[in-house]
Amino acid sequence: MKKIEAIIREEKLEAVKRALEAKGIISMTVSEVVGRGQQKGLRLQWRAGEYCVEFLPKLKLEIVCDDADCDLAVDIICQTARTGDIGDGMIFVLPVEGAVRVRTGERNATLALSTLSDKTLAEIR
Ligand SMILES: Nc1ncnc2c1ncn2[C@@H]1O[C@H](COP(=O)(O)OP(=O)(O)OP(=O)(O)O)[C@@H](O)[C@H]1O
Ligand SMILES: [Mg+2]
Repeated sequence: MKKIEAIIREEKLEAVKRALEAKGIISMTVSEVVGRGQQKGLRLQWRAGEYCVEFLPKLKLEIVCDDADCDLAVDIICQTARTGDIGDGMIFVLPVEGAVRVRTGERNATLALSTLSDKTLAEIR
């Protein structure tokens, strides 16, 4: 299993969510975060001069999925969240040791795409 942590623009959430859902990737966690990338935030001109906003608001999307589904999910997020301007975000992929569905106690529970039938999976892949 893998965990995808994607930092994206707030206004891209709806499109990313819809694109993932169209491929059967439903389960996710979304958090409001602040961060900075290689530009160290944003420099703004104001009447009194220049000032700097060091940390900018972004959204963090966390998706745990089977290894086989990871590349597809990353591709979808990358394509859908892109504007081409600086600040589009970053996607990190981490290994996951386990997952337990609380309702059933099921270990390494089926995640995201794997809850769909083989036929549906074949269609969307
Ligand atoms: N190396 C990193 N580690 C942790 N978080 C990061 C890292 N790089 C970027 N982020 C997070 O991603 C957000 C968006 O980063 P951003 O898109 O500006 O990355 P960048 O590397 O500066 O790329 P670009 O040049 O396209 O702006 C940051 O606000 C921060 O929350
Ligand atoms: Mg940046």
